[in-house]
Amino acid sequence: MRARATRRATTLGTRTRTRARASATRERANASAAFVTTPIYYVNDQPHIGHVYTSSVADAYARYLRAKGADVFFLTGTDEHGLKVEQSAAKRGVGAKQLADENSEKFREVMKAYDISFDMFIRTTDEAHERQVKNLVKELRDRDAVYLGRFEGWYDEGQEEYYTETKAKELDYKSPISGKDMVRSSEENYYFRLSKFQGALDALHAENKEFLTPSTRRNEMIQRLGEGLNDVPISRTNFTWGIPMPNDEKHVIYVWIDALMNYITALGLGDDKTSALRAEREKYWPASVHVMAKEISWFHSVIWPALLMALDLPLPHRVHAHGFWIREGRKMSKSLGNFVDLACMNRFKAHYGLDAIRYYLAVEGPIGANDANFSAARVQEVYSTDLVNTMGNSVSRTTAMINKYYDGVVPNEGDIKFENWNMTERANEQVQLCLAAYEALDLPRAAAAAKKIITDVDLFITITEPFRMAKDDSKRDQLNACLYQCLESLRIAAVLLEPIMPTKMAEFDAGVGLGKGTIDERTKWGGLKPGTTVQKLALFPRLEGLDENGEPLKA
Ligand code: MSP
Repeated sequence: MRARATRRATTLGTRTRTRARASATRERANASAAFVTTPIYYVNDQPHIGHVYTSSVADAYARYLRAKGADVFFLTGTDEHGLKVEQSAAKRGVGAKQLADENSEKFREVMKAYDISFDMFIRTTDEAHERQVKNLVKELRDRDAVYLGRFEGWYDEGQEEYYTETKAKELDYKSPISGKDMVRSSEENYYFRLSKFQGALDALHAENKEFLTPSTRRNEMIQRLGEGLNDVPISRTNFTWGIPMPNDEKHVIYVWIDALMNYITALGLGDDKTSALRAEREKYWPASVHVMAKEISWFHSVIWPALLMALDLPLPHRVHAHGFWIREGRKMSKSLGNFVDLACMNRFKAHYGLDAIRYYLAVEGPIGANDANFSAARVQEVYSTDLVNTMGNSVSRTTAMINKYYDGVVPNEGDIKFENWNMTERANEQVQLCLAAYEALDLPRAAAAAKKIITDVDLFITITEPFRMAKDDSKRDQLNACLYQCLESLRIAAVLLEPIMPTKMAEFDAGVGLGKGTIDERTKWGGLKPGTTVQKLALFPRLEGLDENGEPLKA
């Protein structure tokens, strides 16, 4: 099919453009504060795909918000207290702090290696955290949200979690995580008056659909709330590796209370108003989103908001509890020994490159209610289809043609659009879809919209046949417009993919120029400047697949 060129007047005059720029600058000056968090990871576990995944989802979102011009604080870190750490350390014959130091460092290294752009790596053994947790728990006691009482219940030693009789029976008195028997346990403890917040929590989940996502998790929580809330013990006396209870030091503060509070101690909210830390960071609370997997949604969507209500603090805007990475249809667990562990992840990363792995995690990961299967064959397929054949190919074809026909100098679009192929409108439509998807934390949909722009370029090239136009001098204007539109579409797609693939898109930026400003500004058609020089780019080399362990496939 031959494309017929039609002429249209440009839509955006210089004055409109200047006004748009001025308003964007104003927006940036009032940049809204945003706060994104990952769970803080247990130091007695080795990092694996699950930790990397949650952190990379939160990272893509934090990068997206920064690209919007928001003032983002992105928090991650390690959860270091509790019986399990004390026991693991004893088994290894080292002090709990030493074990925590070593393993916390491993997590920090992993986050750096996967380009997680955190602003702070908090540790629950940080002096500032411990001090503030004590202040906050004291405050809870002063407000009578915490009292001393006796408790008897079913205890999951692995998870350090108590279950009600109903729930324990439903689980056959076995830990849903480790499968080990729960034990009957009785202690004198400090309790948090969770029951007092029943009405407020019911209302929170009933009225605010956005508080806990995806909706499957919300429905579960509404059902669990319907079973009735008991007060929960928030101190322990059977071990010492923790933060002592203020004014009663034989008790240590329950690890989950200690851990949840990291989200506000990082911002200084447990210090008084004179604190410099608080003055600087208070603006980030409430959190824009706490990202995690589904197994800890109870703590984040029930216990945590109740604690905040008791402290008279605003609630986070959103708690997102995604699904699990699984393997061959089965849960990854220590007993099955089927974790995609860090060594395995690193082999995939070394072979395909960091951004390709981040892309795979983003598009195939369990962002919603369902679990996702990790599969080496899918890594290979996604890499070859989306990155090599689609993105890599379009970018190299387009930049090669611009180099061949224009010595690398970007031609002028003029006012030519191609019939049925208004690339501006097509790109704009996907930009809107993509930004909305990022906003909703739906990374697969965000990536799909960007990819649609790229597949459009491929089709557009097939249909308009710029290589034929190049042979006909009378078609020079059309060739100009065609190649401009290809590269401009690709530039916009690259801007959209930046939160997921920051390093590759930096290569794109070095070769073509992604433009300056916020993501809204940079995804406006026309950002690619005629007259600038572009390099021929080959972003993703063709590669062989790997086996499930990340080793080269045997012939
Ligand atoms: N320390 C607590 C969290 C306290 S937050 C105040 C904890 N730590 S953890 O090390 O077990 O990390 C749990 C988190 O790791 C999950 O919520 C999820 O973010 C991530 N993942 C662990 N395994 C996972 C999968 N198999 N799949 C996806 N993510 C998973 O719980």
